[in-house]
Amino acid sequence: MSELRHPLDPLSSEEQIEIVTHAREAWKLGDHHLFAMVQLEEPSKAFIKSFKQGDSFQRYARVTIWDRLRALVSEGVISTSGEVKSWSEIPGAKAPVLGVESEIAIKVAREDAGVIAALVKRGITDVSTVHMETWPIGAQIPAHLDDGRRLIWTPMWHQPTPDANFYAHPINGLHAIVDIDAEKVVAIEDNDNIPIPQTPGPYRESQTGATVKLKELMIHQPDGASFTVNGWKIDWERWSFRIGFDQREGLVIHDVRFSDEGKERTIAHRLSIAELVIPYGDPSQGAYRKNAFDTGEFGLGNFTNSLTLGCDCLGEIVYLDASVTEGNGNVRTIKNAICMHEEDFGILWKHIDVDGHTEVRRGRRFVASSIVTVNNYEYGYFWYFYQDGSIEFEAKLTGIVLTLADTPGKSHPSATELEPGLWAPYHQHILCARMDIDIDGSDNSVVEVESFAHPIGEKNPYGGAYETRETILKSEKSAQRLIDPMKSRFWKIINPNKKNHVGQSIGYKLIPGHTTYPLAHEESVLGKRAGFMYKHLWVTPNKEQERYPAGDYPFQHEGGAGLPDWTSADRPTENTDVVLWYVFGTNHIPRTEDWPVMPVERTGFHLKPSGFFRRSPGMDVAPSEAVETTCH
Ligand code: NI
Repeated sequence: MSELRHPLDPLSSEEQIEIVTHAREAWKLGDHHLFAMVQLEEPSKAFIKSFKQGDSFQRYARVTIWDRLRALVSEGVISTSGEVKSWSEIPGAKAPVLGVESEIAIKVAREDAGVIAALVKRGITDVSTVHMETWPIGAQIPAHLDDGRRLIWTPMWHQPTPDANFYAHPINGLHAIVDIDAEKVVAIEDNDNIPIPQTPGPYRESQTGATVKLKELMIHQPDGASFTVNGWKIDWERWSFRIGFDQREGLVIHDVRFSDEGKERTIAHRLSIAELVIPYGDPSQGAYRKNAFDTGEFGLGNFTNSLTLGCDCLGEIVYLDASVTEGNGNVRTIKNAICMHEEDFGILWKHIDVDGHTEVRRGRRFVASSIVTVNNYEYGYFWYFYQDGSIEFEAKLTGIVLTLADTPGKSHPSATELEPGLWAPYHQHILCARMDIDIDGSDNSVVEVESFAHPIGEKNPYGGAYETRETILKSEKSAQRLIDPMKSRFWKIINPNKKNHVGQSIGYKLIPGHTTYPLAHEESVLGKRAGFMYKHLWVTPNKEQERYPAGDYPFQHEGGAGLPDWTSADRPTENTDVVLWYVFGTNHIPRTEDWPVMPVERTGFHLKPSGFFRRSPGMDVAPSEAVETTCH
């Protein structure tokens, strides 16, 4: 192992190749065994804490195998040198959709006589002009197929010319249902004869002309970037943290610390987005099943883009590559998967004294980001670190809205008409952050803080007084909370064992940003499968095996797994190692301006120090050089 290696580094392509080879040997895997997921088996927190750079260590991977013959998931943990730690079958579980399976499903659907006939009926004689997507069927399965088999469902669009935006031309009401393991179409749903909308949705430069231009903007850092990258460890300003990458979650942040007046203090052990689900709110045939769990049913990391300097990121950029193991065991490296750079972020603080003396500081932020493309949508995950000690997560949503066809001008209450006969169904994007926060150590508590006013009277003589009320969320059930802007509600993660200079527990506050609440009924099929959506905040005691809010295997799972299941035990969450699960998202009522490619929508949250520092860490930031003078 090279000296720079760290136990939390993502599995390199070389390591994944070794893992695949050893796994095949150890578990006697044949061609019918697919590698559903190869993830770093992260060492325990205790191990990480005692680890010193240069210590030798073994690297383990958690390998999920889908046996196509037995329709069975197995999970094993194996080292890069072939030492097996565990191997077990998970009866009833289904692996996420794998790329190789999508290819099979599309191939058999394209060759199916019933599909071809249904297309001919719609005037399409060349099946190669049909774009098919492979969507998990969810748990809304036709009764005669609901016998546990593994199914993919294929929405279709027509692509009249090779560079046409096929989402402008949905083939409504036609779906093949493919039994992936049997490699055959087992049902065709052909229940609509709405004409295919014909208005094109051009977005390529060659089609739009894209003539609106501004003068060049250069981001120039003549002395280079202000951060250092050592393997996967980043040091920037007073921050230090590690970048991680996971096939299921994509971008991960580890071991976040801040140097407070020369003393390194811990803030978080691991931060990730553990699930992303998109409930569609249209009952029509083409939409009601489109409730994909992009993280749990697809493996979000698989879809990570290779980023381009000057386009996705601007300035002095450092990229990191990531590798994923595909279903057939091939290891694919994604060049420039993670982008890191600094951004000017306007003023950090400013004051002009009565004597005219001015102090102003420009703020800068560090950005670690990656972007995925899952079918029609792009999701950017952006983690920001600021000079005032705060952290922000922002999801950037762009890409193309899903489309279906209906009669032009008709009343269609759960969708927006974009062009005559082209409709975009209402939907939500719900994300769940899993945050193992460690405020100066692992034993933390979570406190809900609300603002309130006493009635006008003795405690509020002028009617304008208000106070805050703090409630410790002592156990899992009491820690299932919703946002409440009317009460300025937020949550504080405190270390009750460490007091600041005024005797208060040190902490960070979690500040909700733009968000939404699910519209799907809790007792609906989707509501049960994504039960975590119904609370904005969950707190659990930290268990390494509790990683995903909708459970480990949401594919065709009927629901109840994950957070709703674990928290039914109502375990204590006070002064212990806790994990915060923050659920947030956006309710997307498509606009005509979201077509043909949606401008970026944002949703996210902030983590801000609250009683953690004695004073603002922004005070130590030096003024920047102005064009003609120092910025005083
Ligand atoms: Ni959307």
